[in-house]
Amino acid sequence: MRIDLLTLFPEIVESPFSHSMIKRAIEKEYVELFIHNIRDYSTDKHRSVDDYAFGGAAGMVMMIQPIEDLILKLKSERDYDEIIYMTPDAKVFDQKEANNLSMLQNIIILCGHYKGVDQRIRDHYITKEISIGDYVLTGGELAAAVVIDSVVRLIPGVLSDETSALTDSFQDGLLSPPVYTRPANHNGWVVPEILLSGNEKKINEWRENMSMEITRKVRPELLEE
Ligand code: ADE
Repeated sequence: MRIDLLTLFPEIVESPFSHSMIKRAIEKEYVELFIHNIRDYSTDKHRSVDDYAFGGAAGMVMMIQPIEDLILKLKSERDYDEIIYMTPDAKVFDQKEANNLSMLQNIIILCGHYKGVDQRIRDHYITKEISIGDYVLTGGELAAAVVIDSVVRLIPGVLSDETSALTDSFQDGLLSPPVYTRPANHNGWVVPEILLSGNEKKINEWRENMSMEITRKVRPELLEE
């Protein structure tokens, strides 16, 4: 998978990919990540990337020219499966969407800032818009990092224990059951006995029941979908 990330603030997105699992996925070439600074593509002498909103609305708008030039350059080099725009006014990201994206070859992710990008970029180049939740961030970078992290860990081979992605919260529409490690007794706080029994069938039943119980308590709407 190749991801081209388009941003005005490359430093914000570099750190999340320089550690742990995602760093390893990049080193092992499960994923290629290219971070492009949109400002490098501005052609005017002030290297402008934004301008006032027509109609007098508050805030600046990211202008077409540098984004268009960058997108056209990338598109001339290869085909892209999706050109994604991170924005709060979009469908909210979930595990199903992460699964879908993890099967793609080449994607572009555009991060908005200020009041967002000129609508014509969205109308003519963007093929998918993603919000990570009903709240507004200062820009799309952290949202893009969330999406990339959740997608990259689903690429086969990235997780050392391949089954662990299959037992994630949400992978079967339910929240995960609790987990425990040694010691089995910490100052009288004991691990549920069933987990020490070695009875795999009973343990799986217990996990399924706990998943259901926790989902019902914390996120009952997931059971209605
Ligand atoms: N940019 C600003 N807020 C955002 C959000 N909630 N999701 C995606 N991109 C955003």
